[in-house]
Amino acid sequence: MEINIATAKRKIQEKGFLDVDIDPTLDLFHEIERLKKEKNAVLLAHYYQEPDIQDVADYIGDSLGLAQQAVKTNADMIVFAGVHFMAETAKILNPSKKVLLPDLKAGCSLADSAPADLFKAFKEKHPNHIVISYINCSADIKALSDIICTSSNAQKIIESVPEDQPIIFAPDKNLGAYLNKKTGRNMVLWNGACMVHEIFSLEKITRLKIRHPKAKLIAHPECEEAVLKVADFIGSTTQLLKYAINDSCNEFIVATETGILHQMQKDAPNKTFIPAPPNNACACNDCPHMKLNTLEKLYLCMQYEQPEILMEEQLRVAALKPIERMLEISKAAGLGG
Ligand code: 13P
Ligand code: SF4
Repeated sequence: MEINIATAKRKIQEKGFLDVDIDPTLDLFHEIERLKKEKNAVLLAHYYQEPDIQDVADYIGDSLGLAQQAVKTNADMIVFAGVHFMAETAKILNPSKKVLLPDLKAGCSLADSAPADLFKAFKEKHPNHIVISYINCSADIKALSDIICTSSNAQKIIESVPEDQPIIFAPDKNLGAYLNKKTGRNMVLWNGACMVHEIFSLEKITRLKIRHPKAKLIAHPECEEAVLKVADFIGSTTQLLKYAINDSCNEFIVATETGILHQMQKDAPNKTFIPAPPNNACACNDCPHMKLNTLEKLYLCMQYEQPEILMEEQLRVAALKPIERMLEISKAAGLGG
């Protein structure tokens, strides 16, 4: 086993995770709870994680809530069950803590759609603009930004900027276009998108609505304009969950990643939640990046404290400023994820 671990550690950059076999009789829920106590670790999970991971997490939330929890925690170790930019944000906020991600290859198509060198050149073409970046971006893009936002605070963040100040919004063009409409601004948009939220089929959603005439369509603002136009409610994952629980309607078509349905079903067991159909033959809207994390990889990363998020200090300090700005504005506005 020790030889296997040594080999797995050497191959971690190539594989993204510790590729070793686990005793199949191990109760991983029990083991993860034990490791949390033993190592004073907190397990933060996004709603798009598989149900088993959500069930063992200390906190499940949207991107803003997760960043706020990462600031608050007294734990020595932050285990992040989410994607790379989320764990990276936790590290930026907590340089002295160990931040672990079960699979380093859990990336994000939206973050990947904004390479730093191209974005820098784009920014130089708009010299009098400030940059508001959606948190789904790399630390390099954060370092080139003035303020970070998430889907739950973006409107407030934009409204905190004087109306005559030109803005570049990156990297999500769908969220940016939605926010331009909401705020009446004319932000210059970077041409990025999320592979999961771009795939919903308006035609199939329309047919589904005919079959379920009482169902409300609730959608994440990363969806395309055509889907957002027919949505009854638009919000971050936490906002969608709260709306589904509190609204008097009993049936919802949910246009976001399917992981959120686990909490919706748990919190409102008598309501019906139908995943919005995507524009392909596959019936699922899983994020392939989020779903790279598994309970086994989670256990292994906690046991062996790898893979760990590491960052150069100069980059961390530059990326911290716009995140702190976001947290300050959110706090003043009473926003929590
Ligand atoms: P929120 O949970 O902040 O709404 O973000 C959704 C998402 O796509 C995360 O990758
Ligand atoms: Fe990125 Fe989209 Fe996956 Fe969220 S759902 S992590 S935005 S690819």
